[in-house]
Amino acid sequence: MANKDVTDPVRMEKIVSLCKRRGFIFQASELYGGLNGCWDYGPLGAELKRNLKDYWWRKTVQERDDVLGMDGSILTHQDVLKASGHVGGFSDPMVDCKTCKGRYRADNLDTLKCGQKPSCKPGGHSACELTEPRAFDLMLSTKLGALATDNDPKAVAYLRPETAQSIFVQYKNVLDSNRVKLPFGIAQIGKSFRNEINPRNFTFRSREFEQMEIEYFCHPDDGMRLTDEWLEARLAFYDEIGIPREKLHILDVPDGERAFYSKKTYDIEYEFPFGIQELEGVAYRTDYDLGVHQKGANKPLEYFDEETKQKFLPHVVEPSAGCDRTVLALICEAFDEETLTDDKGKEDIRTVLRFKPTMAPIKVGIFPLLKKNEEQVRIAREIQKSLQKWMTVFYDDSGAVGRRYRRQDEVGTPYCVTIDFDTLGENGEELKGTVTVRERDSMAQQRLPIDQLLPWLLERVR
Ligand code: GAP
Repeated sequence: MANKDVTDPVRMEKIVSLCKRRGFIFQASELYGGLNGCWDYGPLGAELKRNLKDYWWRKTVQERDDVLGMDGSILTHQDVLKASGHVGGFSDPMVDCKTCKGRYRADNLDTLKCGQKPSCKPGGHSACELTEPRAFDLMLSTKLGALATDNDPKAVAYLRPETAQSIFVQYKNVLDSNRVKLPFGIAQIGKSFRNEINPRNFTFRSREFEQMEIEYFCHPDDGMRLTDEWLEARLAFYDEIGIPREKLHILDVPDGERAFYSKKTYDIEYEFPFGIQELEGVAYRTDYDLGVHQKGANKPLEYFDEETKQKFLPHVVEPSAGCDRTVLALICEAFDEETLTDDKGKEDIRTVLRFKPTMAPIKVGIFPLLKKNEEQVRIAREIQKSLQKWMTVFYDDSGAVGRRYRRQDEVGTPYCVTIDFDTLGENGEELKGTVTVRERDSMAQQRLPIDQLLPWLLERVR
């Protein structure tokens, strides 16, 4: 059993610094001092996140016959979230420190720092004076409509705390408009919002974050089996994107720690540098959700099985993944510092993000060896144009080619293509029209004819 508390703050610091330096992730509203718990993805972070979401959508919706997609509204009717139990019931226990005025999540004190003495946890310093825990509401609300007055309770709408609820309330519409049969799922990727007491560990616990959720509707007899099947499918997914099985831990959440309506919940956890923490939950939610909405809206949500003539409320298995957490896990997993020794015995550290090519933000770097050589530049630009329609490429002609390789290693670009004097045929006819392709992880180089580049790359990066 791996130790949950093993951490590597130095590694984490390097990762956070690389993310900012190379434009993966910035603090939101940084120019104005930052908005705690909110993050902006820069050019490379946006590409990485998009690759993850596209892959999840492809595997979950496009390549399965039994899962349909939807894209629900973030702003949610208060009655939806009253029925689901979120309004008035979605809270974390919070304690205040009367001395330093800090506010802390009471069930996380062990992992937090005292406001006065950061080497202690809150409550661990002699001057700390913690209150009894009280419920802190995690819901974020707004007022909708031009006619809404400040105290009109009907104008209150909520920023959804999970994408799941719009799936439950649209379940009947999806069922009726698509003539699907049980079991089937509805998948959604989208933003969710929680007023977390202590956002922390970079993007891991944020106040605005993105989820990738599947609500899989089934016959009550199949719920337990499907929960186990979904767990396996989700583990396979992580392996495919570059988060290996041995870095994942499955927590079979014990009775008494699961939501009261859940018959089974697995937490899929990853070995982050700040400890083993949850990436995704796979929960068997029974008919709780459709049940509360059937009652709340007073509209029937039962399913009629034509074959058995049975009428029943479907049960739900929910694999619910955090998109930002998975992006963070991808970066943490990919980050590597490799010691290289040159011919003279001099050591050098190479920083590499070893992303799977499907996830890498940039698929190929394109370099003319000499930027003053017009022919090399012309061919490089031509290659750039032809590849750009298919994948994200980066053209770079500044500095020594070795430095250009290193810059691409640091952002995880799996391949670099160099157009050199051999390409022009200056060292013999047999190499004319070929380029050097350099592979990130092995640093091995090979020559490929320009007209074979696109199929060669497509086979590897999609
Ligand atoms: N519909 C079920 C649900 O929302 P959850 O365990 O609260 O369950 C599911 O959230 C996933 O969403 C988590 O496993 C995590 O990956 C992500 N998530 C939840 N809260 C988050 C936060 N504050 N910041 C980033 N990701 C979060």
